[in-house]
Amino acid sequence: MVDLKIINKFPDDFTFGVATSSYQIEGNSFGKSGLSHWDNFSKQDGRVFNNESGNIACAHVINYKEDVKLIADAGFSAYRFSFSWPRILPEGKGTINKEGISFYDKLIDELLENNLKTYSTLYHWDLPEIFMSKGGWKNRDTTKWFADFTDIIMRSFSDRLDSIATINEPWCVSWLSHYLGEHAPGERSIESGVKTMHMILVAHAEAMQVIRSHNYNNAGIVLNKQYVQPFNDIPETLKVTNLADEIHNLWFDEAIFNGVYPSQTLDLFSQYMPINYEKDLAQISQPLDWVGINYYTRSLIKIDPSESFLGYKSVNGDLDITDMGWEIFPKGLRTLIERLHKEYSKKIPIYVTENGMANNDVIVDGKINDSKRIKFYNDHLIECFKLLENGIPLKGYFAWSLLDNFEWAFGYSKRFGLVYVDFDNLTRVPKLSWEEFRRYLKS
Ligand code: FCB
Repeated sequence: MVDLKIINKFPDDFTFGVATSSYQIEGNSFGKSGLSHWDNFSKQDGRVFNNESGNIACAHVINYKEDVKLIADAGFSAYRFSFSWPRILPEGKGTINKEGISFYDKLIDELLENNLKTYSTLYHWDLPEIFMSKGGWKNRDTTKWFADFTDIIMRSFSDRLDSIATINEPWCVSWLSHYLGEHAPGERSIESGVKTMHMILVAHAEAMQVIRSHNYNNAGIVLNKQYVQPFNDIPETLKVTNLADEIHNLWFDEAIFNGVYPSQTLDLFSQYMPINYEKDLAQISQPLDWVGINYYTRSLIKIDPSESFLGYKSVNGDLDITDMGWEIFPKGLRTLIERLHKEYSKKIPIYVTENGMANNDVIVDGKINDSKRIKFYNDHLIECFKLLENGIPLKGYFAWSLLDNFEWAFGYSKRFGLVYVDFDNLTRVPKLSWEEFRRYLKS
């Protein structure tokens, strides 16, 4: 059986952690939180599997001590979590929910007592529902309200945060949620997709400005990278593959590191871009302290005339797939990071902020044998180790996820955790993959 012995090879100062996000685990009905746009989205028919929501989720707000213990007991040295905006500001702005502040106070103290580094994210997709009637992320005002929220986080917690990320996965917040319509708010509009592709970067820039005003210097952004390959080698396919690469990856790399947008996409987007967008690019490209990469799969890009705007669709090849139907392609992680380092991020540290797989886990005699997941982690860690050997400043790796949780449009039907959660009674059972991390992290 495959093991995680590879962990022994990593240098002592390499950070191994686990990641979660607020809406996916906390339980939004607890602690006087305001509504998130996911609460509303999950009530709309056909949006989320079984109309499930994050109302209860893993009830982490109640069970956080047990969860922190699970992180520490496995030997991880860091925890990546996110702050829920509606939990802290139920109305999105204005009155602060004391219970929300107090929850994160207790969580952070618990992490510090367990010698865990605190890697926080300001926005992992739980937009206060109240902003939806004002256009959500299409409205530039939302970026200002996000800055105000950032300021509250900085004043309340920044002295206890080892790291701050502004936005988790800007592509998902914008394109996936406003053009492809798969995530809240589920819009399917070119105009909304394009507008939010820019606005979410303005939000990042606004938050960075606030973070810097507090003299804080370990801040970055988390980008989800998709490894794209052409379905065949005819010129038209190569052309749309470049477009897909730009929309998924280079749009964000170019804007954040070079202050420009890539040309093929900009040509296509130009008539929908917010006026004077150019003026924002200097602020969007302000220096970062590090960059995070979330990586799960590759896509083959195939011409599709029925997709009249983009002209392509993403399809699978013949690789093994996870329970999400995502192809497993470890080498893609290394290739994407090599390019990011060489062409864009240069000397700044890189983190793998998410990597993991959904598996159809079942309990047999009280145990969950997820050896496929162990192999997945092993194969991706091998690629990470090669990056270190090649001198790339990769500083840490976060497994997604600590717990089985609310997997967005898939509800509770997809299990990504190192720890199994029984959603009938919320008991947690460490899987074999958790044991396997512990075996090497503790030694
Ligand atoms: C990422 C998200 C994370 C989780 C994983 C599977 O795109 O950041 O919340 O849903 O996918």
